[in-house]
Amino acid sequence: MTARTWFITGTTSGFGRELTEQLLARGDRVTATARNPEPLQQLQSRHRDQLRIAVLDVTDTSALRRALDAAFEHWGRVDVVVSNAGYGLFGAAEELSDADIERQLVTNLVAPIQLARAATPHFRAHGGGTFVQLSSLGGQAAYPGMSVYHASKWGVEGFFESYAAEVAGFGIQTIIVEPGMARTAFSGRSAAVAAVDPAYDGSVLRAEAVPVSAQRGDPRKVAAAIIAAADMEPSPLRLALGSDAYAMIGEALRTRLGILEAQKSLALSTDSDDFTATD
Ligand SMILES: NC(=O)c1ccc[n+]([C@@H]2O[C@H](COP(=O)([O-])OP(=O)(O)OC[C@H]3O[C@@H](n4cnc5c(N)ncnc54)[C@H](OP(=O)(O)O)[C@@H]3O)[C@@H](O)[C@H]2O)c1
Repeated sequence: MTARTWFITGTTSGFGRELTEQLLARGDRVTATARNPEPLQQLQSRHRDQLRIAVLDVTDTSALRRALDAAFEHWGRVDVVVSNAGYGLFGAAEELSDADIERQLVTNLVAPIQLARAATPHFRAHGGGTFVQLSSLGGQAAYPGMSVYHASKWGVEGFFESYAAEVAGFGIQTIIVEPGMARTAFSGRSAAVAAVDPAYDGSVLRAEAVPVSAQRGDPRKVAAAIIAAADMEPSPLRLALGSDAYAMIGEALRTRLGILEAQKSLALSTDSDDFTATD
């Protein structure tokens, strides 16, 4: 395969960093964006011509547009845009502050939507491209203590399923990545934790906290799987990665299907009396 060009958000650690390193190692070109690009300086000196670093906080929509436009301008084209930047917000819905909620939704949901909207005219002008969005197993299943994180990732799932169908005719592929718990900074340095309300002590919320030892995913393998999927044509719309993602998404889907089927006669009973089904 000839060298390809990528634009990636959130490249200081975790999946974004792994993607950047693996892509540079195979000879691809990368615009790696980060709020603080300091941790990327060593990579820059090793891959001077292949790597362009851009300072970007994804919550700044106009900066996000400028960074993406500059990447297309610099490289001539970008084949793959990876919307990876994001973090987890932990705490009961009641424990979260208004600012906690806004920052989570702007970072994990609004920024990906704006990045996709910014990439679309460029991709159309070049006859196609691939947009990779980091969702989560928490984009298909939901557990207590992460309600607004789930809202952001379920939001991403809905937006990108619709977006994928809108732009497929332009040769634009969309991949929604659903990793399970992986060994990145997600549950450590990057985690935002709400102030604790003792009313929830001893509740299911505290009991469900996931221990760090439960993080089974290897970020190197996750990054390699994302690259392999982006190389495919057609690429998969959804990519569940990790044995936990496979099991928990499967369980959530089966449970929801069971609930839907149990309500079938009720659902059908609310149609208008003069409606005639055609199938
Ligand atoms: N690891 C998991 O278990 C897991 C599971 C499912 C989904 N995910 C998703 O995977 C994605 C990557 O997370 P990760 O696991 O690799 O965690 P990570 O190691 O914490 O990396 C997250 C990256 O996002 C960046 N970031 C956060 N907010 C940003 C902002 N406003 N603007 C620009 N960059 C920002 C961080 O930059 P700074 O260095 O500036 O903080 C960091 O580079 C996230 O979308 C996350 O929801 C992770």
